[in-house]
Amino acid sequence: MRADLLGDGGYAGAVARLFDSVTPENELKWEVTESQPGHFDFASADRVVGFARRHGLSVRGHVLVWQNQLPAWVADGSLGRDALVAAMRRHIRALVGRYRGRIAEWDVVNEALAEDGGPRRTVFYDTIGPRYLEMAFRIAHRADPGARLVYNDYGVEGLGPKGDALFALVRRLVRDRVPIDAVGLQGHLTTAPVPGLAAQLRRLAALGVDVELTELDVRLPDAAGADALAAQAAAYARVVGACRAVARCRRVTFWGLDDADSFIDSAYPGYGRATLLDGDLRPKPAYRAVLAALRGR
Ligand code: G3I
Repeated sequence: MRADLLGDGGYAGAVARLFDSVTPENELKWEVTESQPGHFDFASADRVVGFARRHGLSVRGHVLVWQNQLPAWVADGSLGRDALVAAMRRHIRALVGRYRGRIAEWDVVNEALAEDGGPRRTVFYDTIGPRYLEMAFRIAHRADPGARLVYNDYGVEGLGPKGDALFALVRRLVRDRVPIDAVGLQGHLTTAPVPGLAAQLRRLAALGVDVELTELDVRLPDAAGADALAAQAAAYARVVGACRAVARCRRVTFWGLDDADSFIDSAYPGYGRATLLDGDLRPKPAYRAVLAALRGR
């Protein structure tokens, strides 16, 4: 959810009424919370966390270590290895420590895999080396031993080079006793079925971690007619049904409340209408399909 929309009664009311958990969409990102080294600003994040507490919603913390929406002082590569490790430690400790007891689950590392399944070349990988990832989890665990720690990525929802690489990565982290509790499959999807979704959920769960859909949306071509909404509803229902079929698939989170606030229109020109509610906050067929799938019908 977005702090800048909290003053919109329709938006805030719908979030509180329809959901039991929220993810701040941008408010906890590094460029917002620590734009200058060691100077923290939690004003926007506090507004979302406060709203969630008032309405009895849990909060997913998003995100501690990610190569996007970084401040220039981190992104520009000017920090050496020790300085970047120290910055990462200070950042993770500040966020996880501040919200200890209020944010029970964190996306610790986001999108560390490249499209071919190799490691993504980021400032963290290039400066610290591949071990930055497990370092981040260990730092977060020490900052709040009770928090659920998640590795989160996209394009890994099914089988294929990147999905296979995710499985191998998580298997290694578990083997090395890195404190990881869950894997987040983002789920920025089209209406096409995801090959191997059920198998991916099952084999990740078999490693002894939870799985969840963390950023689900299903985009449609703008040119598609009204019947595309039925295909979208079917796609949402398939994903929710696949999650329900796996005991360790604990949660489905949707990215954006409604078609007016979704990031999809700007990120995927020519596509939109990706969420459960239309731009006037009216439930779409997808909303009803998700409810039915959650009830197992
Ligand atoms: O806050 C500024 C505002 O001051 C300025 O006037 C405006 C002008 O463009 O930009 C605003 O920042 C935008 C920010 O969202 C807040 O609205 C950025 O330009 C825009 O790039 C940013 O987009 C976010 C995107 O991550 C950036 O990577 C989306 O809202 C957010 O939904 C999206 O979320 C990511 C997840 O964190 C990780 N997984 C993928 C997902 C989709 O890309």
